[in-house]
Amino acid sequence: MIAHWQEKPAPLLGLLHALHDRDGYLSDESLRAVSEGLPIPLADLYATVTFYHHFARTPPGQRAPRVCTGPICSQRGARDVLQALDDAQEMPCAGRCDHPIPVLVGQQVFTAAPDATLSPIPSPLPPINPSAYEECLFAHIRDAGRHTMAGYRASGGYRGLEKALQKAPGDLLVLLEESRLAGRGGAGFPTGQKWRAVSEATGSPKFVVCNADEGEPGCFKDRALLDHDPHALIEGMILAAYATGATSGFIYLRYEYPETLDRLETALEEARSDGLLGRQIGGKDFHFDLCIRRGAGAYICGEEGSLLNSLEGKHPYPRNRPPFPVTHGFNDCPTAVNNVETLAAVGPIVANGAEWYRNLGLGENAGTKLISLSGDVRRPGNYEVPLGLPLQTLLNDWAGGPLPGRQIQAVTMAGLSGGFLAEKDLEVTLDDPSIRACGSFLGAGGIMVFDDRRDMVDVAAQAMHFFADESCGKCFPCRIGTQRLSERLSGTDGPSAWTDWQSEVEDIGSAMASTSACGLGMAAPHITQSLLKYFPSQIQRHLANQQDLP
Ligand SMILES: Cc1cc2nc3c(=O)[nH]c(=O)nc-3n(C[C@H](O)[C@H](O)[C@H](O)COP(=O)(O)O)c2cc1C
Ligand code: SF4
Repeated sequence: MIAHWQEKPAPLLGLLHALHDRDGYLSDESLRAVSEGLPIPLADLYATVTFYHHFARTPPGQRAPRVCTGPICSQRGARDVLQALDDAQEMPCAGRCDHPIPVLVGQQVFTAAPDATLSPIPSPLPPINPSAYEECLFAHIRDAGRHTMAGYRASGGYRGLEKALQKAPGDLLVLLEESRLAGRGGAGFPTGQKWRAVSEATGSPKFVVCNADEGEPGCFKDRALLDHDPHALIEGMILAAYATGATSGFIYLRYEYPETLDRLETALEEARSDGLLGRQIGGKDFHFDLCIRRGAGAYICGEEGSLLNSLEGKHPYPRNRPPFPVTHGFNDCPTAVNNVETLAAVGPIVANGAEWYRNLGLGENAGTKLISLSGDVRRPGNYEVPLGLPLQTLLNDWAGGPLPGRQIQAVTMAGLSGGFLAEKDLEVTLDDPSIRACGSFLGAGGIMVFDDRRDMVDVAAQAMHFFADESCGKCFPCRIGTQRLSERLSGTDGPSAWTDWQSEVEDIGSAMASTSACGLGMAAPHITQSLLKYFPSQIQRHLANQQDLP
């Protein structure tokens, strides 16, 4: 097994998964063999392996059920399921907030009923388009057989690639820039500009990396694309390679999507047999192939520097920037790291034109955004919205509004990273300028809804606990700040007088936002800042009776 992986690019994660899948855990013998085979010093390997949630070091390991305890599942009874299942362990948000409560057993995802009965429920399709707005990414996703090569081609798939290959790579860069497509993984960097930087970078070889880590709680839109439209991602990656001059690519897929892995592998084989991957694609001097590497359960591995370190088999700390991945990415070579949604949008943009894509947005906004909507609404699910759509239209007209007899108290933005919006700020439109004016951001587009039954201090405490758990510990403002905020929200430490509590929490948050080394530590204080902004009376109630603190 080790000899087989020694030959492959980015071998460490693949090899660890193979051994973990074989035995159910990583034994001392396995670690020693990996350490000698790759080779990696045993102490470094041990530190890296134990960083990931997924890799168990003892039985029952992978055979133990893992129950999602993300924000929505926690409210749907995840703790009861945890108690009811033998050997069950907690797992952070597993990306099925539209169908809680996911339980992962080995390589299968089940949905747990409140009595902990497990049923294998296939990955849900997005709801039928509830509006007259034209879709880009979901336009054909509900077509029967769309996940196969035949189904994809039947609804116009790979037409963008055919068109692009008739032009020079530089024309593709111009088209992308004109479309104003921006990264959909969270940071919103213009995609055309990123690809141009890779294409102009001097190093070689060049790489395209798809970030399919989707670890942000409340986000599950990449899963829908990967499960039901895998060729859209593959087409986008081939186009990225053509535009940038990349010859190899990776899809970094979160391990929590085991069934997605099978779908993707089949789609890659289909693309290879059709000559869309490999050498001389489209009869041109254009060579590109790609492979999948599974993550192992670490939210920070969605951050691009951390992801690249993880791929390289290093300890997955975020990297200091500059230099940026466009010049110094995988193995220090020029690399385009892009989110699944970003890449999947490129095929339709090339097929239909930059102007078509720009005009899908409302007002000044260009294009569409996938929103993963979950929690206390009647029709949770993935929705493709024109950028600039009022949030209230999504919540009430598209998703059916609050549950009977209830009112929406707050929503999160950017999964958890944008904190909460409430009161008059629920009138925002879904675009960054509007949301940033309220102190938050759209990010990857996860929106979790909390109605008037929910204790927002409790929700905030769980969110901060997640960030504290997932902080990689590399820089102290985040490592210590997330812990201190977590203690203050849960009432286990800190002042009990309101004004002291408020100023201490504000101080910690602003120090974290301005001095943390990566987006995790910068974003986590959105939780406390927005809690202070909208829910001071709920905090005061908790402080008045510390015994009640969650
Ligand atoms: C803590 C953290 C987690 C992240 N997780 C993801 C993720 O799961 N998926 C993703 O595409 N981007 C994630 N990002 C953003 C990536 O660093 C990067 O900006 C993105 O993959 C670039 O692709 P895009 O330009 O297509 O958005 C994360 C960033 C941070 C700081
Ligand atoms: S901000 Fe947090 S997650 Fe990011 S490098 Fe610092 S400790 Fe690690």
